[in-house]
Amino acid sequence: MSTVISVTNQKGGVGKTTTAVSVAYYLAKAGHKTLLIDFDPQGNATSGLGIDKQKLDENGTMSEVMLETKLLQEVIMQTKQKNLDLAPATSQLANSEVELAKASRRFTRLKNAINNTQGYDYVIIDNPPSLSLLTVNGLIAARYVLLPVQAEFYALEGLGQLLETMKLVRKNMNPTLDLVGVLPTMVDSRTTLSSQVHEEIKKHFPGKVFKTVIPRNIRLAEAPSHGVPIGVYDRFSKGARAYKSVTKELLERVAA
Ligand SMILES: Nc1ncnc2c1ncn2[C@@H]1O[C@H](COP(=O)(O)OP(=O)(O)OP(=O)(O)O)[C@@H](O)[C@H]1O
Ligand SMILES: [Mg+2]
Repeated sequence: MSTVISVTNQKGGVGKTTTAVSVAYYLAKAGHKTLLIDFDPQGNATSGLGIDKQKLDENGTMSEVMLETKLLQEVIMQTKQKNLDLAPATSQLANSEVELAKASRRFTRLKNAINNTQGYDYVIIDNPPSLSLLTVNGLIAARYVLLPVQAEFYALEGLGQLLETMKLVRKNMNPTLDLVGVLPTMVDSRTTLSSQVHEEIKKHFPGKVFKTVIPRNIRLAEAPSHGVPIGVYDRFSKGARAYKSVTKELLERVAA
């Protein structure tokens, strides 16, 4: 069975996609067969891996998977990176979410799709910035939540709502859902605000915050426009090294 990790934060632009793509890459690089599911209608993980969204509609995307007109297996594509596959998404996923709202088994479709797909050690889900039906599917399908938190003043605002949703999901659908770690992102070590927020995050989530933090690093912002993960774009950059080390911590936490 695969270990499913949902990268979740309903706040926009906190580094979910960067984290999902980078961690998926380093898991694959370490020899783990990994599937990255782009579960956001923005399709950032898809384009970040160099896939032309114009050409996807024949092949099918997560939209068809959620409407159950295609199997997850059928829409999965190989990437240029060894051991790393992608289930792509386009803006179609937003339309399917509307249809899904009145469909049967609407909360468990992603979970079923993943359960019917064999051969992966890790499945990483890149969730959209909302507490929508899609995100709830992502939480129900997952064993773990990885929560990226941007080191800025409003970082903790809204997280209570996410934790409340996780509690509900645990109670009703997925009792083993666990927060595997909180990852401070875009940390600027030169500013006191950044370190204050980091301290605040640690106070709020005792024992849950990754030892590694992700620095603000321009190379991380550049990589998607080249269609490759940071580990390929500039593997010696600060951002690459941080994500490599986060992946190592993640593997330790999952094994524990
Ligand atoms: N550590 C970093 N340093 C510098 N830029 C970063 C870093 N992490 C992410 N970025 C950039 O910040 C922007 C937002 O990051 P990203 O897309 O990963 O966030 P997100 O949470 O997935 O956003 P959304 O909620 O829209 O899906 C992107 O342009 C990304 O390239
Ligand atoms: Mg994103």
